Amino acid sequence: MMPEISNQIASAVALLRAGRIVAFPTETVYGLGADITIPSAINRVFEIKGRPVGHPLIVHFSEMSQLEHWAQEIPKSAWQLAKRFWPGPLTLILPRTSHVSLNVTGGQNMVGLRIPDHPIALALLNAMGPERALAAPSANLFGRISPTTADHVFDELGFTVDMILDGGPCKIGLESTIVGFSGKTTIVLRPGGIPQTELAEVLNEKVTFPNRKKPRVRVPGSLDSHYAPLTPLEVWPTKSLLQRVLELKAQGLRTMLLGWSAAYLSWEKDKDFLYFSMPKEPTAYGNQLYTTLRRFDNGQFDRLLLEAPPNNPAWLAIVDRLQRASCVPFIKAQDGDF
Ligand code: TXA
Ligand code: MG
Repeated sequence: MMPEISNQIASAVALLRAGRIVAFPTETVYGLGADITIPSAINRVFEIKGRPVGHPLIVHFSEMSQLEHWAQEIPKSAWQLAKRFWPGPLTLILPRTSHVSLNVTGGQNMVGLRIPDHPIALALLNAMGPERALAAPSANLFGRISPTTADHVFDELGFTVDMILDGGPCKIGLESTIVGFSGKTTIVLRPGGIPQTELAEVLNEKVTFPNRKKPRVRVPGSLDSHYAPLTPLEVWPTKSLLQRVLELKAQGLRTMLLGWSAAYLSWEKDKDFLYFSMPKEPTAYGNQLYTTLRRFDNGQFDRLLLEAPPNNPAWLAIVDRLQRASCVPFIKAQDGDF
């Protein structure tokens, strides 16, 4: 590690131990770090984000040997997943020990835990010392898009954060996969950096999803609204896109279309309609999604129009985020739509 980074990590540790807040890079998104053993630091994280206090924070640590310091009654499948995917984009929800206070878990007896896979995050967590860990929600205002660069953190939170460690753009760009356990069942609570097929492969059994049948609609104040830009965002299947573009044009709404197929390349661009090509491949798309949404959420457009992703499990985390970011009911692409 470069000497200047070691110096920055030493400063970050001094700040964190004094109860201050340090944003740091992980492989998924930037986190807003606070020492979980200092209640005033945890309170400040909620304040900075404008996050309701009932919302639990993920606890980040660096060594597998510390897992039992923070969690107990750990099921066999949790150990299997931890051993395979940590350090990595996986958060496990497990019964907390008394070392994790209720203000971190939003009053629940379960805690979310993760060992992130980023050299700066790991160096920082190691330097905090044993029996220390960092609560780190994504370093954005509540309900907004997670930051994937240090600049995003500064643009959104500015000087409310005591320090920002710059680790460049995040490798994955979407939040971790959150997994919970109920009896013998493994449940994906938030799809993310690890596809469920990989989880199922390691466990050699099916993983399930919570039952959510209704399409999500963004209602101000609704907790289902998340990961959202300020500009209203709509998602439409490929076959409905052109009609929607024409409707928005007729309303005089300046529209940016973010598409992944080539469907729109021949459509006429004008001052009220522009498009931007996103990657066709889900890993690359996921990596660029938040940066691209931020780039065009700049007050220049009345509407962000997104082409619905293919109906394919590899796109699940992206579909989940777009459902929550969308201001109209999200209509899934049908097989054969594109
Ligand atoms: O990739 C990530 O997970 C990033 C990086 C910084 O690690 N963190 C992140 O944290 O996305 P946050 O706070 O923005 O989102 C955490 C999600 C929330 O939806 C929260 O409700 C859920 O994890 N969560 C945390 N602890 C939980 C618990 N004990 N039970 C259920 N859900 C939990
Ligand atoms: Mg978040």
